[in-house]
Amino acid sequence: MTAPILQPTPENIAKAANILRAGGLVAMPTETVYGLAADATNAQAIVRLYEAKGRPRFNPLIAHVADMEMARKQGVFSKQAAALAQAFWPGPLTLVVDLEGTSTVSDIARAGLNSIALRCPAHGVARALLTVFGGPLVAPSANPSGKISPTRADHVANDMGERVDLILDGGPCESGVESTIIDARGHHPALLRPGSLSAAEIEAIWPGLVRPENNADAPVSPGQLLRHYAPKARLRLNVTAPDADEAVLGFGPVKATLNLSPSGNLAEAASNLFFMLRQLDQTHSRIAVSPIPEDGLGEAINDRLIRAASR
Ligand code: TXA
Ligand code: MG
Repeated sequence: MTAPILQPTPENIAKAANILRAGGLVAMPTETVYGLAADATNAQAIVRLYEAKGRPRFNPLIAHVADMEMARKQGVFSKQAAALAQAFWPGPLTLVVDLEGTSTVSDIARAGLNSIALRCPAHGVARALLTVFGGPLVAPSANPSGKISPTRADHVANDMGERVDLILDGGPCESGVESTIIDARGHHPALLRPGSLSAAEIEAIWPGLVRPENNADAPVSPGQLLRHYAPKARLRLNVTAPDADEAVLGFGPVKATLNLSPSGNLAEAASNLFFMLRQLDQTHSRIAVSPIPEDGLGEAINDRLIRAASR
């Protein structure tokens, strides 16, 4: 049976919170992508979540919190980590910090690590659900592991409808690429995943951002080693002369099948990225993507495209 897609009325949010309390899975909108939420303290619910996504158990989950008070119960915040949270929460920033002794988040959700990834989302529906539920919720993107992240409720229904209990419809996600993940445990902020918040925005609060090499011997963020965002179609990047049979995913003033942003706006391109990739993947077997500048949000967009193009 496919999960119902419900409008986020107070009654439906209360219903969603009850499903979570009973160990169920609820898809919720966030400002980045749709997340698949489960009670972060319920090991059984988390096992079900890993199974629903087909996610390898070594890949830890982000615990979402309603506010700083909830966050401090789970993780240890250095002065610099607290400054980042103060500047960007609620918002698309995930902080990896040391696990606090009072943490209630299940070991399975952390893949046994002694660190924890925490994020306080900005989306009104995610915030309402966290507040009514009253505790941390783990929420990976609501797609089968390795596939394109969902930015609309119907993406979740198509990909995961049979494996979740309820989908809250918050409309299209505003920013469209996942949160920026910063390891805030060291002397410098370390960029584990480029995302909706640009490197420059992080550096304005805590300078000296480093980009650690992710290699299999010492994975700094286990999920970054996995295949990701994979469409069925073959993707070619930085294309200025597309082949006749290729769909063109454009950027800027170019002739395109779909254009991420005709005016060359990176925020607009990020919010369209997964939606348009999904569209073209349904109609074409080859997709050529226009060059996209690497500055600002371009770093996150190019990161997703490179992963989507790799086989
Ligand atoms: O925008 C987002 O962050 C979305 C929305 C739903 O909040 N969530 C999301 O979750 O993208 P997911 O599971 O698709 O990606 C989480 C990433 C994975 O690459 C995982 O390896 C990493 O976070 N991660 C989680 N805990 C970690 C930890 N303790 N240390 C390093 N990386 C961690
Ligand atoms: Mg994901």
